[in-house]
Amino acid sequence: MTTLNIAAAGTFPLGDRTVKRLGYGAMQLAGKGVFGPPKDPEAALAVLRAAVDAGVDHIDTSDFYGPHITNQLIRQALHPYGQDLTLVTKIGAVRGADASWNPAFSAEELTRAVHDNLRNLGLDVLDVVNLRIMFDVHGPAEGSIEAPLAALAELQHRGLVRHVGLSNVTRTQVAEGRAITPIVCVQNQYNLVHRGDDALIDELAAEGIAYVPFFPLGGFTPLQSTALSEVAGQLAATPMQVALAWLLQRSPNILLIPGTSSVAHLHENLAAATLSLPPAALAALERIKTEG
Ligand SMILES: NC(=O)c1ccc[n+]([C@@H]2O[C@H](COP(=O)([O-])OP(=O)(O)OC[C@H]3O[C@@H](n4cnc5c(N)ncnc54)[C@H](OP(=O)(O)O)[C@@H]3O)[C@@H](O)[C@H]2O)c1
Repeated sequence: MTTLNIAAAGTFPLGDRTVKRLGYGAMQLAGKGVFGPPKDPEAALAVLRAAVDAGVDHIDTSDFYGPHITNQLIRQALHPYGQDLTLVTKIGAVRGADASWNPAFSAEELTRAVHDNLRNLGLDVLDVVNLRIMFDVHGPAEGSIEAPLAALAELQHRGLVRHVGLSNVTRTQVAEGRAITPIVCVQNQYNLVHRGDDALIDELAAEGIAYVPFFPLGGFTPLQSTALSEVAGQLAATPMQVALAWLLQRSPNILLIPGTSSVAHLHENLAAATLSLPPAALAALERIKTEG
């Protein structure tokens, strides 16, 4: 393996921490459909340890991955945690026995979710908790987030949560949220093809708020595009590395949490930290947006 230099991608503040812009998303570590245990738990633990060994200091998770399983793997692999590791979790959903994703927004449910995360991660305080809005599970949908966010802010006041973020939200909801409590990050779907948040990213950058795209590689169906493959070929990189390098160059407030269950893919993805995309490559990639 070539030596990784993930610090080359720079850092950005996340609450009162500063994290490297290349992090890791742990969702892929649970079983198929993000439900139940992984086929090979040792391999999952190895991915987590390899991430931290490579310098990753920002891991994204949730207690509804598995459920509980992903957090338990993180605890088993990495506890006691290094001082510089920031664990970001999310609440607002529970899993049905059929693996469904269901809203869980009452104050009671949110309190239970915070305690589930604390217990399964082995923490006294959660660094950052994203409120995952579930008006539409597949994408942002308008509606007031005041009641659940006020409940989360109360848990923050009680000292169980250090910082609050929002996930799967509209610009209106970000503004509503910021009037209730400081918002340190927004986690929405965004990648080379899925560009709906272009304006929001720029607004958050101007405010010093992190934007953390989920599905940075396309999610369960990784990105495929002729233009992406051509650019990758020209730069002697892989399409996934180009997709991540493009996000790093898109805006300085973007923090990456690509997900993988494989150490080889993890190393490949982290190597994007040192990949620089020249103007011609950026122009070719820009055309993917219009081609859809
Ligand atoms: N807030 C939300 O609602 C929300 C929703 C979804 C996800 N998330 C968070 O965002 C993180 C990232 O999203 P994600 O993991 O779903 O999607 P992703 O990072 O876009 O892509 C993950 C998929 O790409 C594959 N992959 C990863 N690296 C690869 C490589 N180098 N070459 C080929 N294939 C590769 C993975 O398979 P392998 O395992 O085989 O590598 C997996 O199928 C999650 O881990 C989770 O923490 C948040």
